[in-house]
Amino acid sequence: MTDTVPTVDGLPMSRGRCPFDPAPELAELRREHPVARMVFPDGHVGWLVTGYDEVRRLLADRGLSSRGDLLRSPIPLPMAGDRTEVAPGMFTAMDPPEHTRFRREVAAWFSTRRTRILEPWLTEVVEAHLDAMIAQGGPVDLVSTFAEPTAALAICEILGVPAEQRELFGKAITSLFTVHSSAEEAIGAWQNIGGLLFGLVNTRRAEPTDDLLGTLAATGELTDEELVTVGSVLLVAGYDTSANMIGLGTFALLEHPDQYAALVADPSLAPNVVEELLRYLTIVHAGSIRAAGADMEFGGHHLAAGDAVSLSLGAANRDPALCVDPDRLDITREPVPHLAFGHGIHQCVGQQLARLELRIVFETLARRLPGLRLAVPAEAVPTRADMIIYGIGELMVTW
Ligand code: HEM
Repeated sequence: MTDTVPTVDGLPMSRGRCPFDPAPELAELRREHPVARMVFPDGHVGWLVTGYDEVRRLLADRGLSSRGDLLRSPIPLPMAGDRTEVAPGMFTAMDPPEHTRFRREVAAWFSTRRTRILEPWLTEVVEAHLDAMIAQGGPVDLVSTFAEPTAALAICEILGVPAEQRELFGKAITSLFTVHSSAEEAIGAWQNIGGLLFGLVNTRRAEPTDDLLGTLAATGELTDEELVTVGSVLLVAGYDTSANMIGLGTFALLEHPDQYAALVADPSLAPNVVEELLRYLTIVHAGSIRAAGADMEFGGHHLAAGDAVSLSLGAANRDPALCVDPDRLDITREPVPHLAFGHGIHQCVGQQLARLELRIVFETLARRLPGLRLAVPAEAVPTRADMIIYGIGELMVTW
């Protein structure tokens, strides 16, 4: 069957007319060839998977590896050449048993029970940032005044970044991801985060605290380098995703005024809003990526050892096999088992924190700003389609 499937030249990333829909080519592929071949940016010919069932089954298949030395980026990366050496502690790029060792250390910090403890504090953070935004008066950029600082504070709190350093971390993380940063600036920002964390780890080793970094430092299970990498992964994975879900999610709601009105009328819909926005927007739109650890058969296809596999979470979440009318944003939809947080052993470790944060954000926005609207035409909102995480750079709003 392998010979009859088409070969796509690179992962389709450009959006069509609607900034919330995945690249139109993905839907065409999913209809005819949910498993196709794809040329990766380095010339390697691997696979592109777009069907919901196929993506879900492959993400649960231990035959696929996440080992960093096997992975290839499906998009040209600005920060570094592909297949760089994997830093000690980079558990996102490991298989069991190494992956399990690190994952176990951090997962307990992101359980439903532990994140719930943060709810009163997180509510205060969201209210305070909205107070500041409202005091400034519209038109104002919701991304820089609300989405970014809220997301940065939440992850800093769990890690245990002291209050006086949060602004420094926030700035470094923002410049790592901003659409305006050059490759050099992004590399500098990554090094800057590592440097700041290294200082913090040293302090925590001397004076342990009861936050994530303090506790891990005290156990002595991880080396300094591993701890710095684990901290950087959590900061980066937790910040950019949440910030973009807040910004892009608000944009999507404002572009679907009936949906925003429904939330304003009934804020108890907020948990549904979160699940539906996660599915509909699927901001990790260049993920997931894996490689065949050994020769394997899948759905009549032969994957050779080392074949790179790009699993399109965005295409999978718009598959009619998942839900009725998948291209419609419908906040009254019963939540469906979407793949916005991935699936299998690498499924998002911070998903309960993200859900809590987003629920509080959309509930509070609807309650406090029922008349929220865009202050610019939708076409003027700058999107970033060429990065691993889809999102927007700015959202000018008024109310
Ligand atoms: C709405 C926000 C978020 C979205 C959409 C999201 C999405 C994802 C996805 C799709 C994966 C799986 C990648 C793969 O299959 O290789 C993932 C993994 C991960 N996420 Fe999230 N994430 C979000 C928020 C967070 C937060 C708040 C944290 C907090 C620390 C976080 C930390 C991580 C980590 C550490 C991994 C890697 C897990 C592993 O390899 O075992 N994420 N996320």
